Amino acid sequence: MSLRDVVIYTSEILRKPNAEVTVFDDELKNLTDDMLETMYKHEGIGLAGPQIAVNKKIVVIDIPDENGEQGKNPLVIINPKITKLEGEIVDSQEGCLSVPGYQDTVQRYERCTVEYQNLKGEHCVFDNVDGLFAICLQHEIDHLEGKVFVDKLSRLKRERLHKKYEKYLKELN
Ligand code: CO
Repeated sequence: MSLRDVVIYTSEILRKPNAEVTVFDDELKNLTDDMLETMYKHEGIGLAGPQIAVNKKIVVIDIPDENGEQGKNPLVIINPKITKLEGEIVDSQEGCLSVPGYQDTVQRYERCTVEYQNLKGEHCVFDNVDGLFAICLQHEIDHLEGKVFVDKLSRLKRERLHKKYEKYLKELN
């Protein structure tokens, strides 16, 4: 396993189209191991392919248990598709490993149904899930559509963040 660099907003890599995964082999398993390692290292609960500059429809998620611990239930979610959004629109306090040091409130659906494939290529479904998991799924699947959670904020906030992170990116390079 190896750590990957996290792509930082406002990089265009986060906006590129992401390809469907068609080959379910050891290489894919190694890639998702790297994604999980990178996510844990940065104390994230989810990470999408484009966030490590792999423009493919791959997401990893690990929602902490009631003791705040991760690692017991790492999920690898390939080619996910939201097939249903249900329930109330809820306020969700979010951050993103690609937008380090920033959190804000965005709106999400309370529940969702997601069809996906596992590492073996088998078709699976998260049926009408809720809570943090449902919100995390929506956040990560947005990444696969080239969206970042800050896109949901007001224009004023977006412009301010864009400037701030563009400057930050330049300083990093
Ligand atoms: Co994110």
